[in-house]
Amino acid sequence: MRRIFVIGIGVGDPDHMTVQAIEALNQVDVFFMPDKGAEKAALRDLRTTICERFITSAGYRTVDIDIPQRAAAGDYLAGVDEWHGRLADLYSLLFEQELAEEEVGAMLVWGDPAIYDSTLRIIERVRAKGLALDIQVIPGISSVQVLAAKHRIALNRIGESVLLTTGRKLADGFPDGFGSVVVLLDGAQAFAHLAEQDLDIFWGAYLGTEHEILRSGRLADVKDEIEAVRARARQKHGWIMDIYLLRKSDPGR
Ligand SMILES: C[S@@+](CC[C@H](N)C(=O)[O-])C[C@H]1O[C@@H](n2cnc3c(N)ncnc32)[C@H](O)[C@@H]1O
Repeated sequence: MRRIFVIGIGVGDPDHMTVQAIEALNQVDVFFMPDKGAEKAALRDLRTTICERFITSAGYRTVDIDIPQRAAAGDYLAGVDEWHGRLADLYSLLFEQELAEEEVGAMLVWGDPAIYDSTLRIIERVRAKGLALDIQVIPGISSVQVLAAKHRIALNRIGESVLLTTGRKLADGFPDGFGSVVVLLDGAQAFAHLAEQDLDIFWGAYLGTEHEILRSGRLADVKDEIEAVRARARQKHGWIMDIYLLRKSDPGR
């Protein structure tokens, strides 16, 4: 049976690679490399660096996957579902054509495959279509962990819950029942609309890369600076990935 490794590779620093991930890399016959989004150059660079640095044999092949665009109009969830269906068709074809029975294929996933990444969902759809695949997931260091480490904070306050969410969801307001909220995929700086609430922010962009930027403080005090720094960096590099933790300000402060 064909085997597929889904390997988390960290979020920009090759040193994020775990020993398990490096051992998996060295068993791979074919790397399937999707090209997507504005950050694709950074992603491609990291993948290339990782393959060159950690793979000790030269016997692997690489198959680039040209990812089709998702329809921007219409219902968001229906659009994503339709897009994933097209991706599953594409992956299915490529796995069958490019990977012999008993060979090992791999997909290198930014960060950890379990956090806001659809690779596993799409591969499940490939299996549901009837292609027999043995899937193994190798966890990676995610942007959530790197954000906490760089700011030297724990994500949760004692006994409290943490929510992982998106900028799209945060736009509805700071969620009830959570002391801390980690926000990914926020292209619209949803935090800026919460500045009148008593919140602290721990923000990071390009974490783990040479361009890394960190800012933190009371949201009302630092929101303008974060927005300005973010806009300048995005303009300079042509892309940005940023993440932040918002939490209710420490009542003891
Ligand atoms: C599609 S999600 C992928 C998350 C990834 N699987 C992980 O484990 O971090 C992309 C989002 O992750 C966050 N992200 C990923 N890498 C980052 C980095 N190096 N610095 C800051 N944020 C990052 C950003 O919020 C970005 O919009």
